[in-house]
Amino acid sequence: MQLDGEPVRSCLMLAVQARDRAITTIEGLSNEPLERAFHAEHALQCGFCTAGVLMSLDAFLRGLEGREPTEKEIREALAGTLCRCTGYEGMAQAVGRAAGAPPGH
Ligand code: FES
Repeated sequence: MQLDGEPVRSCLMLAVQARDRAITTIEGLSNEPLERAFHAEHALQCGFCTAGVLMSLDAFLRGLEGREPTEKEIREALAGTLCRCTGYEGMAQAVGRAAGAPPGH
């Protein structure tokens, strides 16, 4: 989830720490460009990691303020979440697509 727009590990928080803070869950990104890009690039398989990945990448893309990310930046943004299924290639392409890069970026 995101707390005040920043990704956090909800399993390491107490509920009281979220008091009076803005909470965004994966449902809050429903049909957003990043989610659509993940679908278009087949960037998930089992989906176990997907919520955490999307929460992190959504904050990453906002931090770019419209600038296109470099491949290195995308890889660093993905580094915080372990995916056992995809190998990250589709995720990296989805981030590029969501940031406005042409498909296949
Ligand atoms: Fe299965 Fe990432 S899609 S762990």
